[in-house]
Formats: sequence, C-alpha cells, structure tokens
Amino acid sequence: MDWGKQNRIDRIIKPDTGKTVMLAVDHGYFMGPTTGLEKLDAAVNPLLPYADTLMLTRGALRNYIDPGVDIPITLRVSGGTSILNQEALLHEGATCSIEDAIRLNASCVAFSILVGADYERDTILTFAEIIDEAQAYGIPTLCVTAVGRDMVRDARYMALASRLGAELGADIIKTYYVDGFEKVTESCPVPVVIAGGKKIPERDALQMARNAIDAGAIGVDMGRNIFQSEDPVAMIQAVRAVVHDGASVDEAYELFESRKAAV
Ligand code: 5RP
Repeated sequence: MDWGKQNRIDRIIKPDTGKTVMLAVDHGYFMGPTTGLEKLDAAVNPLLPYADTLMLTRGALRNYIDPGVDIPITLRVSGGTSILNQEALLHEGATCSIEDAIRLNASCVAFSILVGADYERDTILTFAEIIDEAQAYGIPTLCVTAVGRDMVRDARYMALASRLGAELGADIIKTYYVDGFEKVTESCPVPVVIAGGKKIPERDALQMARNAIDAGAIGVDMGRNIFQSEDPVAMIQAVRAVVHDGASVDEAYELFESRKAAV
C-alpha cells in the first residue's frame, strides 16, 4: 500500500492493538443541531483525548474545532438530504471535494452508500468516483452502509452492503451490529467498525461493542451512545477499554461508573 495511505490508516487504526475508537459527530449533516451537539465544540473537546479519530463535516470542523488539535480527521463527504424529507433521505451525493479534504488535512473521507434504496446506483457510482480521487492522493475511504427502506437490517443485508463497499475499493466499512455479525466480518476483506445507533443504556451499548469486537469488528464509529451519555467522558473511556484493552462488559461498566463517580 502507498506509504501516505498506510500512514493515515495507522493514525486511525492503532497499530499496537489493531483497533480504533472513532468518535462520530457528523449527525448535523442531515439532522441539524442533534441533541448533545448543539454546541459541538463544548461536547467534543473533553472527548478528544480518548478518541482515535473525529468524524465530522467540513463545516463543523472549520467552525468548531481548533486547528491546533492533535487528532486525525475522518471527513464526511456525503449528504444532500435531510431528516425532514423522508422520501429523499436515501439519496446522498458528494458534498465536499477531495481537494478541500486535503486542504483540511483529512486522514480519511467517509461516504454513505445506500444499498437497497431507490437511488442506490447514484450513491454507489458517486462513491466510486470519490474513491478514485481519494486514492490518487493516498487518502483512505470509509464506506458507511445504511439501510434501504425495504431491506431487513440483518446479517445477510449488512454482509451484502459491507462486501459491496469493500469491492468498490473502500478501506474501512462502517455498519450496524446485528446478530450473526461474524457473517459480516468474515465475508468482508477490509476492517469493519460499527455505528452505535440511537442512544441505549450505557451497559447495553458496551455489550454491543463487546459483541462486535468478539465477532471480528476492529472498533466502533460511535456517536450518540457517547455524546448523549449521562457522562460522555466516562462512557468513551469505557468504550475504549472494550475496544483496545479487551475489557469485559462488567469491567467496562464498572469503569464507567467509577469515572462517573469521580466527577
Ligand atoms: C450516519 C452516520 C453517523 O455518524 C452514525 O450513525 C454514527 O453515529 P451513531 O453512533 O450516533 O449512530 O454515519 O450515517
């Protein structure tokens, strides 16, 4: 692999553990001021020491994050529809050029493909163009696989969407944890991370992360279950313990409770 691309990947997927805790705060690109991210800088700054990369849009990066911060950026470069337009929601396109991603010193670019949705072809072909452009500059790509309206969110669908993203040329796949997740990781030739999804109790989110790692995921790209936690700093440390240190759910939850109590 090209030196620059490998260097960027190694900044995100830590070579000592082969794992990553990606902090996703890109929700505003289709949901606006998401609960917990109204003041994105205030929410994110205390979490940065515990995240291996920050996933967000270029507007959030420029407006909320200090350029002096030492964290690799995973830049979301897809969008184009909002949560208000459910009909069109599954029809994303490119929202940022690779030139601007380079200007922002992005270590990775993220794009959603909408396998099974009406407009899957548009999203898949646009992502292929993004991969070509990113590849030319040694920038890795993260493929976000989402759920089409008529697709059942199960291991068969996630395996299909994830493998499709890898065959397009993505370097990392982001998908959702489902029962039988081994089917997804074992049939995907590139690393897989899971999104957290809607906020659930902390212990359940830690269990989901544990299950995903045990099933072959190399980490999480988690947002709401961290920044909407009753104690986001304690939660990201607990998630980190699961991902990087092999902590059990009991150990991680105990860590969460103790760090929470320490405040
Ligand atoms: C949307 C995304 C979000 O970043 C993603 O869903 C991660 O956040 P959460 O853990 O809150 O689900 O990629 O497509």
